Amino acid sequence: MTARLFRPLLLRGMRMPNRIAVAPMCQYSAQAGVPGDWHLMHLGHLALGGAGLVIVEATGVEPEGRITPACTGLYSDECEAGFARILAFLRTVTAAPVAIQLSHSGRKGSTRPPWEGGGPLGEAEGAWQTEAPSPLPYLPGWQPPRALDEAGLSRIRAAFADAATRAARAGFDMIELHCAHGYLIHQFLSPLTNRRPDAWGRDRMRFPLELFAAVRAAFPADRPVTARISATDWIEGGATLADAIRFAHALREAGCDMVHVTSGGLSQDQRITTGPGYQTGFAAAIRAATGMPVMAVGQITEPVQAETILASGQADAVALARAMLWDPRWVWKAALALDAEIALPPPYARANPALRARPFVTRS
Ligand SMILES: Cc1cc2nc3c(=O)[nH]c(=O)nc-3n(C[C@H](O)[C@H](O)[C@H](O)COP(=O)(O)O)c2cc1C
Repeated sequence: MTARLFRPLLLRGMRMPNRIAVAPMCQYSAQAGVPGDWHLMHLGHLALGGAGLVIVEATGVEPEGRITPACTGLYSDECEAGFARILAFLRTVTAAPVAIQLSHSGRKGSTRPPWEGGGPLGEAEGAWQTEAPSPLPYLPGWQPPRALDEAGLSRIRAAFADAATRAARAGFDMIELHCAHGYLIHQFLSPLTNRRPDAWGRDRMRFPLELFAAVRAAFPADRPVTARISATDWIEGGATLADAIRFAHALREAGCDMVHVTSGGLSQDQRITTGPGYQTGFAAAIRAATGMPVMAVGQITEPVQAETILASGQADAVALARAMLWDPRWVWKAALALDAEIALPPPYARANPALRARPFVTRS
């Protein structure tokens, strides 16, 4: 029997040839939101590695929705053309689908890339006024965000819808709405960051669900829209697994095709216990409570570990981030370890250890 990791997964009209995804990873390497040659190489080599789905990094739906000035965006014709070029190239490398994570940074925006310290931008570096549900800064000393008024909420709804339209035109197979890691949508969901007295505070899921509906309506009906959610804030008084389950139920009602279960990121007050598969239990709980397709992520590094997550019914798919950067051939090696068949790209076919036993014959 084929290992579960290597069985296809269907989401609407999209077919993942296996259940291993490359998790979204910010590269802080774009120019004015436009992905360039770094992204072509980065996504190209990950796609070549045979994952069943590649999820492109958190991409801002408006310039102020980026985390840093070097983050990708999908708010201009230039951004759209940059992604269309990359997708056209990826189609020559893999038959597997490609997704984009649409995001808004909210109060965590206007910062420097991590290797420049990650702190807030200065005026001279192009700092922008951040916005959030409530005017609470991410850290003491960071600029307080402006609380979004109704015009701001409408503008951001329209920006998500517009980015979804652009994502469809550029050729993305799937959208993952970034509702996790303390960015704008998570800021609405958590009681620690959403202190609004209005309808969007009394029902903290309201704005996130409005954004989901806007994206779903703008993206072709045969292509899936999914969400990445933080299952807990890991903070006393913050959002809990029970909140995440309620949100997953509501997403499902709204037509969400899968949730990708991560955790934390809201505030540096979080107290996280990490370790191999440390978030998988959350994925399992959400899957059991909602019956929804779930993707697990977080310190999944070994093929047998990943296979066990699926075989024990904890998730329907797994995503790997750092392990994929470290070893972009992870999927090929997992296929070998689990005795599954995998088609290597024809020019690399002879690298397959099963074929390497044959004598190497040079052509002249
Ligand atoms: C370089 C890097 C960039 C990341 N960027 C994003 C991102 O754009 N969106 C997101 O939701 N998570 C992002 N993450 C988190 C990963 O997607 C993943 O959830 C996390 O690294 C845990 O998985 P791992 O143990 O397999 O690395 C990033 C992680 C890394 C290492």
